[in-house]
Amino acid sequence: MNYQAFVKEQITSIKGWVGNGLAINALSGGVDSSVVTVLGHRSLANKLKTVFIDNDLMRKDEPERVVRLFASMGIPVELVNARKEFMEALKGLTDPEEKRNAITRTFYATVFGKLVRETGAKFLLHGTILTDIEETVAGIKRQHNILSQIGIDPEKEYGYQVLEPLKTLRKDGVREVAKILGLPAEITQRIPFPGPALATRIVGEVTEERLVTVRAATAIVEEELGDTGAFQYMAVLLNDRATGMQQGKREFGQIIVVRCINSVDARTATPVEIPWKRLTRICERITAIRGVNRCLYDLTPKPPATIEYI
Ligand code: XMP
Repeated sequence: MNYQAFVKEQITSIKGWVGNGLAINALSGGVDSSVVTVLGHRSLANKLKTVFIDNDLMRKDEPERVVRLFASMGIPVELVNARKEFMEALKGLTDPEEKRNAITRTFYATVFGKLVRETGAKFLLHGTILTDIEETVAGIKRQHNILSQIGIDPEKEYGYQVLEPLKTLRKDGVREVAKILGLPAEITQRIPFPGPALATRIVGEVTEERLVTVRAATAIVEEELGDTGAFQYMAVLLNDRATGMQQGKREFGQIIVVRCINSVDARTATPVEIPWKRLTRICERITAIRGVNRCLYDLTPKPPATIEYI
């Protein structure tokens, strides 16, 4: 594909779609939404309002880091605190698809619905990519950002149109476009992180306490595996417990799984062979997190597993 031509075409299309209207988009700091943000600002300048929705499911320091980074590129991003809304919607849910549905509803109806009413925006620019659409349509998993492809009319349901300039690209293509747009390596080389964020890495109910645990484990895994060049690495909190010992006392503690995979486009994936010494260090650091007494390394490729756990 000619990515230079792709960028030009998308800028022309976005201008044509939005005309003199107002558009809004949500930035998560991942490569997909970052590319949409830059494409959108090049097309619409101040007719595009970019927000970062803090859903309480983010990695450590993520909201402030993303807002700061885009401010340094001259793109203002408004931080919207929607922690309460997301945690209330997730309360008591354990089924993976119900959790995903609750996040979708909260994002599009509750939080975005309100933002759209407040700003008068008629368009939502969205970073949906081809893999998201394919996996949702194939019934593998309901990606949080898929609407029209599964029969949801966003204009009717939520009162705005959704534009998806990246819907013909896969992750590798999005990274190429990101480079052409001059995005820093901090973004173009960032590992994928799903829209439903740490909720995809908590099996069972998402609670503040369980978020603290998985957030701490995620920070350790990202620090320890950051130099592997792997496609994606993560920590997952299981919904099971195991007997162990903490400070000489028996404890029925939490179990964290570490996953590190290689992939080109996330459709298939293979586990990365990590040196034993490094795995041991990760295990030591993770079992030092309060309440965690086991750490496992996941050897499963995709298929039969998916990359995330919900
Ligand atoms: P799975 O778990 O389906 O993940 O093998 C494939 C890739 O997609 C990411 N992923 C998501 N990205 N919204 C996203 O934006 C989602 O709902 C979502 N679920 C999974 C996942 O991290 C992996 O890179």
